[in-house]
Amino acid sequence: MDKLDQLVQQAATEFAAAADGVQLEQVKARYLGKTGALTERLKGLGKLAAEERRVAGAEINRAKDAIEAALEARRQALREAVLVAQLAAEALDVTLPGRGVAQGGLHPVSRTLERIEALFRSIGFVVADGPEIETDWHNFTALNTPENHPARSMHDTFYLEGHEDVLLRTHTSPVQIRTMLDHVARYGDRESMPEIRVIVPGRVYRVDSDATHSPMFHQVEGLWVGESVSFADLKGVIADFLRKFFETEDLQVRFRPSFFPFTEPSAEIDVAFMSGALKGRWLEIAGCGMVHPNVLRFGGIDPERYTGFAFGMGPDRLTMLRYGVNDLRLFFEGDLRFLSQFR
Ligand code: FA5
Ligand code: MG
Repeated sequence: MDKLDQLVQQAATEFAAAADGVQLEQVKARYLGKTGALTERLKGLGKLAAEERRVAGAEINRAKDAIEAALEARRQALREAVLVAQLAAEALDVTLPGRGVAQGGLHPVSRTLERIEALFRSIGFVVADGPEIETDWHNFTALNTPENHPARSMHDTFYLEGHEDVLLRTHTSPVQIRTMLDHVARYGDRESMPEIRVIVPGRVYRVDSDATHSPMFHQVEGLWVGESVSFADLKGVIADFLRKFFETEDLQVRFRPSFFPFTEPSAEIDVAFMSGALKGRWLEIAGCGMVHPNVLRFGGIDPERYTGFAFGMGPDRLTMLRYGVNDLRLFFEGDLRFLSQFR
């Protein structure tokens, strides 16, 4: 039975030499396959006498068990090797520092708009909006702006080719008209109409470009209409707003007489700081006035009973002042070196 022991030994050696599962199965076939060494011996048993066959059969079966055990052990070892290799290849160093999440931030003008909205909401204004592509009627006619007014010229306004009566709105004031018409449609049949108190942040467009003028810029319109709204209310609301917006009492506000077709009387609002880098420099930040009776009429409101004030301010300029930025165009170039300073 030396030969059988040798065979077991040889099988174990060959199994150990098999580099992977496929090779291992090929080696197995040489011993345990249909024509394998052990199978051949089992077949040879038939030629032996009964007693011999019993003894030899038992020996062969022991050898077969030994070979199968060696095979299974090698299979297991190969599976583990594969697993170890895979774990090594996919290793994670959980002690590395994280990559972090890039932090975004609001655009400085968006911050200003949010601030303006919050301050006006706190005194009972609601936020409204209107279309940027506007009709000539809402943008000019209903705002009492005559046919030959220079603002209506092709030099100042973007018109839409093939559509003579639509344009990119030049200010947020057309939303005054939309607001009044909506309000009257909703409350006009009441004995006494509730007050209108809205602000309208939005984009506007003009053929304009230099350090303090951009072809697309922002405005925030304000409109307060009621039974006894006066110019004094306008001054109080604006002065209060500006001191809160800039978080300083160290601020002068000036109402400089001016002209707009849609207000009477009209003024431009200028501000100057009394200290700091911008000390003493006046900058125009808004136009304003008492809503013209014709405009109230276009909005469906009786000017004999109701009065109102309106203003249109430039939040881009407010942002320049608040952060000390000297060129308005920086806000619209999308340069992250500039924008990331406001995070
Ligand atoms: C108007 O647009 C009027 N609709 C404002 C108004 C509303 C008056 C209601 C009376 C009643 P004006 O063209 O001056 O007015 O513009 C208002 C503000 O927008 C200016 O004070 C300025 O702060 C800002 N502004 C005007 N043009 C530009 C521009 N090209 N770039 C940036 N800001 C501008
Ligand atoms: Mg102006």
